[in-house]
Amino acid sequence: MNDLPHVLDGVVIAAEIKAEVAREVSDLSSRGVRPGLAVILVGEVPASQIYVRSKVKTCGELGIYSEMLTPPESITTDEMLALVAQLNAREDIDGILIQLPLPKHVDTKRLLEAVSPDKDVDGFHPVNAGRLQSGQPGLAPCTPAGIIEILRRTGLPISGQNAVVVGRSDIVGKPVAMMLLNESATVTICHSKTKDLPAVTRNADILVAAIGRPGFITPEMVKRGATLIDVGINRLTDPADVQRFFPEDAERAAAFAKRGSVIVGDIDPAAFALSGAYTPVPGGVGALTIAMLMHNTVKAAKLRRGIASERR
Ligand code: GUN
Repeated sequence: MNDLPHVLDGVVIAAEIKAEVAREVSDLSSRGVRPGLAVILVGEVPASQIYVRSKVKTCGELGIYSEMLTPPESITTDEMLALVAQLNAREDIDGILIQLPLPKHVDTKRLLEAVSPDKDVDGFHPVNAGRLQSGQPGLAPCTPAGIIEILRRTGLPISGQNAVVVGRSDIVGKPVAMMLLNESATVTICHSKTKDLPAVTRNADILVAAIGRPGFITPEMVKRGATLIDVGINRLTDPADVQRFFPEDAERAAAFAKRGSVIVGDIDPAAFALSGAYTPVPGGVGALTIAMLMHNTVKAAKLRRGIASERR
C-alpha cells in the first residue's frame, strides 16, 4: 500500500453486489422462482419513508418482487402480529422487513421475534443471531455483512488481524464482532465502560466505529496504517462542529450553507489521514446496507427452497 490512505468506496462495491444479485434473480427465474420482499412501514416518519422507497426501488431494479405495507401509526401490536403472521404464511414472500423505529406503543422486540427466522432478511431474530454464532447457514444483519464484504472484496486481510469494535449494539457491534471472529480475526469489543479506550483502539489493525457519536474516534486513538470502518451517520447542525471536523473544507462549508446540516461519521475525519484504508461517510458502509438486504432476500428465497447459494 502507498502512503495515501485507500478510500473504500461503498458505492462501487454495492454496485458489484447488486449486479451479482440481479444475475442470481435471473437464474432463479429460469426455475420459475421470483424472490419477494415485503416491507412494513408504520406511520409517516420521513426518514423511514425515504429508506423504504429506496429499498422498494432497488428491488424493482434487480427483478425482485416487492410489496409495501403501510399501516397507520395507530396500529396495535396485536394487529402488527397478525400482519406478520400472514406474511410468514405467504409462499410468494421470502423476506419480511419491519422498518424501525416503530411507534412507542408497539412492542418492537415481540414483533421482530414473530418474523419467521427464515424470512428475517434484517437478520434481527435471535435465531439468526444464534446461527451466526454457531456457524450455521442463516441470515446475517445487513450492515455488518456489508462491512465484511468491503474488507473481502478489497482484499484486506482479516485473519490474524487485531480487530477492535467500538459499540456493542445487537444490530451492528455484536454481529460484526462475531463475523470478524468467524474470519479468524482477534476481536475486542469496547463500550462505554471500557478502561483506557485509546490504548485498546491503538492496537487495532481493523477499527470498527459503531457508537453513534460524531467524530468520537480521534487521531490519537488510531494506529498508523489501520483500516478504519466508520458505521456512524451523524447530522451536524452547529457551525462550530462543522468547522471543528471539516476545517478548510470549502465543499462541506457550501453544503452546510445550503442545507443547514452536514453528515459526519463516528470517526473524526482527521484520523483518516493516518489510516491505511477507510470508509468515507457518506459513501462507505451505509451504501452497502440495501445491497446486502437484496442479497439476503435472494438468499432467503434459496434457503427456503433448498437451493444452494454460491457464497455466504
Ligand atoms: N431503520 C434504519 N435502518 C434500518 C434497517 O437496516 N432495518 C430496519 N428494519 N429498520 C431500519
